[in-house]
Amino acid sequence: MNFRHLTAVFTVLCLCTADGWCSENARVMDELNSPLTPNPLKSAIGEALYNEAIASGEYRYTGNDKCRLCHRDFFIGRKHDQHDHSMDYISSGEFKNNPRCLVCHSTGYGTPSGFVLLEKTPRLSNVQCEGCHGPGSNHIKVASLKKTGGGLLAGEDNPERLKKMCKVCHTSRWNRSYNDFESAYSKYKKAVPK
Ligand code: HEC
Ligand code: HEC
Ligand code: HEC
Ligand code: HEC
Repeated sequence: MNFRHLTAVFTVLCLCTADGWCSENARVMDELNSPLTPNPLKSAIGEALYNEAIASGEYRYTGNDKCRLCHRDFFIGRKHDQHDHSMDYISSGEFKNNPRCLVCHSTGYGTPSGFVLLEKTPRLSNVQCEGCHGPGSNHIKVASLKKTGGGLLAGEDNPERLKKMCKVCHTSRWNRSYNDFESAYSKYKKAVPK
């Protein structure tokens, strides 16, 4: 048992005094003792495409303030979505800099131009638009020039990739968000998911 384990055990003891936290914390403990979750974008689109896209320099994370400029309705809708609050669980405690948590609770963690630390990249905290659709700079270029969609790694034209994005974060450990995947997925076609 090393220092990190001791800290984790201590946290369980503390959190267990509050109702309902014990079962949650069992999942967190499991996560801490499991291999680091691979980069969600890379897992969803495959290593070859990921490497090519990132090396091109055309796919950079911009943060959802940019998306708001043209998708005000979606931006407002997503404010009611739990994804936009996913850092709440980890930002105040000992996990706030832990890669094991940030990989699924922030936007683009582990990708160049993605989330690094709250202090450094607050504009990419939570699972934002680009957490599901992939880095947005190329889409913004396409959309500005042609006034159309396209240019996203996991956009509407690639539902299979977008579905994989969901599943790389919603693993068998973190699968309580929905019972029926297809209906959960289709809610996101609308500006306000619920
Ligand atoms: C593989 C992706 C993934 C990783 C890694 C991950 N989480 Fe989560 N987390 C989720 C998802 C998805 C949910 C939403 C609940 C669900 O679907 O089960 C969630 C929910 C939570 C919740 C809220 C509990 C609930 O049921 O709503 C807490 C607290 C939490 N995570 C803490 C952590 C901590 C701390 C770490 C790092 C040790 C971590 N998570 C790592 C994906 C992940
Ligand atoms: C939890 C994942 C997720 C997040 C976060 C998310 N989206 Fe989406 N988005 C989806 C899914 C799923 C679809 C439906 C794709 C399809 O048609 O198969 C979609 C569709 C869309 C569409 C097309 C809808 C239409 O009617 O043509 C737009 C535009 C869009 N998203 C913009 C955004 C913006 C802007 C944000 C951030 C404010 C955002 N999305 C955040 C998953 C997400
Ligand atoms: C310069 C304006 C502009 C900006 C900025 C912008 N978009 Fe779009 N976007 C559009 C237009 C135009 C369309 C096509 C019409 C529509 O679906 O609203 C579109 C369509 C989409 C679609 C559906 C079609 C597709 O290609 O999948 C998604 C998803 C999307 N945008 C996500 C985003 C995200 C995420 C951001 C922020 C990184 C963003 N957009 C920023 C203009 C913009
Ligand atoms: C980058 C990781 C990631 C991706 C990609 C992702 N999720 Fe999530 N999702 C989470 C986390 C973390 C939470 C917990 C957020 C919270 O409770 O604050 C969550 C929560 C949810 C919830 C519960 C929302 C609520 O209001 O209770 C649903 C439903 C959900 N996700 C569906 C999806 C679907 C469908 C997709 C794909 C279109 C998707 N997620 C993509 C990480 C992700």
